[in-house]
Amino acid sequence: MAAWQGAQVEDEVITADLVKGNAYLSELLAADIVVIGAPMYNLSIPTPLKSWIDRIAIAGKTFHYTSIGPEGLLVGKKAFVASSRGGIYAQGSPRAAIEHQESYLLALLAFLGMTDTTVVRAEGLAMGADVKDAAVGQALQDIAAFAA
Ligand SMILES: Cc1cc2nc3c(=O)[nH]c(=O)nc-3n(C[C@H](O)[C@H](O)[C@H](O)COP(=O)(O)O)c2cc1C
Repeated sequence: MAAWQGAQVEDEVITADLVKGNAYLSELLAADIVVIGAPMYNLSIPTPLKSWIDRIAIAGKTFHYTSIGPEGLLVGKKAFVASSRGGIYAQGSPRAAIEHQESYLLALLAFLGMTDTTVVRAEGLAMGADVKDAAVGQALQDIAAFAA
């Protein structure tokens, strides 16, 4: 945190980590299209994806604070989220209220200014071969439709 705010860093490990974090940030800032692979883990997102978010959600770089609250700076980018889940959590399903994966990601992307978002979802993947095949088939069709 101190380094992000301009403090001198001498520790080699922290320096290397800052280089890595800057690389993730530069890659994102340069991208026109962002694709995020996001399986549901324990109702939310996997830890490595959260770690990436912690590296790229940086005040002054990807969002800033204004007199009326935070404002995203990543405008004009398109984001695709490839979502997969063992169970079913879609809107209207009994577990929709405990879905904190897609809802969190879309909120985070919007917070950073990315509102042009598309979710491709395959869910119910642990509910038997028939449900899985149908879900994957539908997701592949959705992807083909977006690409057409
Ligand atoms: C650590 C872990 C936690 C998971 N938590 C959930 C969960 O809360 N709800 C769910 O529906 N599926 C859960 N899953 C299943 C994954 O969402 C599912 O396997 C996902 O589609 C990943 O695809 P894959 O298994 O083909 O890699 C979990 C899987 C793992 C490994």
